[in-house]
Amino acid sequence: MIVKRHSKIAGWGVFATQAINKNTRIVDYAGERITNAESLKRERRYIRRGHIWCFKLTNRTAIDAGVGGNVARFINHSCSPNCYVHIVDGVIWIRAARKIRRGEELTYNYHTDGEGLIECRCCQGCKTLL
Ligand SMILES: C[S@@+](CC[C@H](N)C(=O)[O-])C[C@H]1O[C@@H](n2cnc3c(N)ncnc32)[C@H](O)[C@@H]1O
Ligand SMILES: [Zn+2]
Repeated sequence: MIVKRHSKIAGWGVFATQAINKNTRIVDYAGERITNAESLKRERRYIRRGHIWCFKLTNRTAIDAGVGGNVARFINHSCSPNCYVHIVDGVIWIRAARKIRRGEELTYNYHTDGEGLIECRCCQGCKTLL
């Protein structure tokens, strides 16, 4: 259903290889489950290389896709995304926010609460800082 390819937004991205219906659970955001304190430490290290891998799961825990992650870690951010995140029983599902056409890049809104070090390139003229 999906494949990793070069993205116009940033580096690698994930693309639909077939049409995907609205609300489909496309892929789960896999990785190591760690505490938020540990994730803050790791994020500082990752961000120096321009990466964001840790996904905040709850107020106490996060998933670090830099360790044991799957293709979901290559999904880029967009301010007008075609996917959304749905957390069920500790699993972070990436789901289709609308019908997605074959060949479209998958995106979701990261809702980052970091230092805003990355300029968003989701569309021309975007002023968001990730
Ligand atoms: C979870 S990774 C996504 C995969 C990434 N493109 C790669 O090649 O490894 C998140 C990183 O991708 C980049 N990224 C994702 N969405 C972006 C966007 N809308 N604008 C600029 N950079 C973005 C940033 O460098 C961010 O740290
Ligand atoms: Zn944007």
